Amino acid sequence: MINLLSPEFLSNPYPVYEMFRKNQPVAYMESLQLWSVFTYDHVKTVLTDHAHFSSGPNGQAKTAEPSEQKQEGFSLITTDPPRHTDLRSLVNRAFTPKAVAALEPRIEEIANELLDKNANTGELDLIRDFAYPLPVIVIAELLGVPAADRDRFKEWSDEIVAGADAIIGGGQAGSRQAHMEMNDYFKDIIAQRRVQPQNDLVSTLLAAEEGNSHLSESDILSFCRLLLVAGNETTTNLIGNAVLAFLEHPAEWDKLVSRPEMLPNAIEEVLRFRSPVQAMFRTAKQDVQIGDQTIPQGTRVVAWIGSANRDEAKFDEPARFDISRESNAHLAFGQGIHFCLGAPLARLEAKVALTAVRNRLPELARQNTEPLEPARGFIVHGVKSLPLRFATQS
Ligand code: HEM
Repeated sequence: MINLLSPEFLSNPYPVYEMFRKNQPVAYMESLQLWSVFTYDHVKTVLTDHAHFSSGPNGQAKTAEPSEQKQEGFSLITTDPPRHTDLRSLVNRAFTPKAVAALEPRIEEIANELLDKNANTGELDLIRDFAYPLPVIVIAELLGVPAADRDRFKEWSDEIVAGADAIIGGGQAGSRQAHMEMNDYFKDIIAQRRVQPQNDLVSTLLAAEEGNSHLSESDILSFCRLLLVAGNETTTNLIGNAVLAFLEHPAEWDKLVSRPEMLPNAIEEVLRFRSPVQAMFRTAKQDVQIGDQTIPQGTRVVAWIGSANRDEAKFDEPARFDISRESNAHLAFGQGIHFCLGAPLARLEAKVALTAVRNRLPELARQNTEPLEPARGFIVHGVKSLPLRFATQS
């Protein structure tokens, strides 16, 4: 039986995925009472077929109009149509690719400031000192949290993320205390922005209107929380997984250094090769046939994105890390109506981060050959810590 939480599986789940794709592409996992799908086609079906698979925890995701649900707030990621459609178009207005692209100079500044702290030492923990704080600071600024409050924000963010069951949200995320403090803090920000809108996400969310609907205060609070859970650890691991993949494939790093225009392609290959989110959940809304199995109504289904992205039926030599790969329709950001809202931001942060690593950390190498500890849980994939050394530029 596979232990989905064993360090062996978490560090290298790919041989297990391959075995399932070959022998049992649709499998019931007795110990977890979960169904699992492993091939590219099945994963895509489970993620996109919202007529048969709900994003809610029990097949009854909230579908009512926001006006009927004002008091509760929402979690976009666990909501089904028609409610999801309405909410998504409201938040889309605040999260346009253009708005995200405008953040590039500021993200560069933050990345360089973080690297400045270790520039003279020749050593850093890539996760602790760089890949972890970068997305947290970016989201804090995006939400309009002033620099003076950043440390408090980081503490709430840590607690909420640590407590969140997973990117799927919905569960009892984080300590009650952190929730309440952050809610109170954002209630104040919302009240201030109502009177005096600024150039930040909260002001844009307050102004967003679609037909007769708009976002309530509790909707905005839930959305801020979702951004922390869905946006921080995922991006940390994209950056960490990228650096790790390049350390293990130095010829690909040399290729990228000599041809920097390959960076966007290289980021897509990292997303495929070592997907930061390995799995997403759905619930069967009725009995549904997948492959030669019938998944019973009401059961939870795991769509193994990390396996789909290594499916030999879809990708040539899927175990090869190749930044010049041409056809790369990976599912790392999901697919369909729940496609990652933060994908443009995650790609931009990864681009800025890898450019800063290339420019500022020459001759980058692991400090030791100790095995790396995997990140917690089987949904998010990466390492907890990545101690590196580099040549100082003096
Ligand atoms: C490399 C980084 C990231 C990865 C791999 C990732 C992955 C994903 C995936 C797989 C989904 C689909 C969930 C589903 O189908 O149920 C998703 C949804 C979502 N992501 Fe991301 N994400 C990343 C970064 C971000 C960032 C930076 C943000 C925001 C700041 C963000 C916000 C969201 C939101 C709000 C949703 C829900 C969208 C919806 O339900 O309509 N993500 N993400």
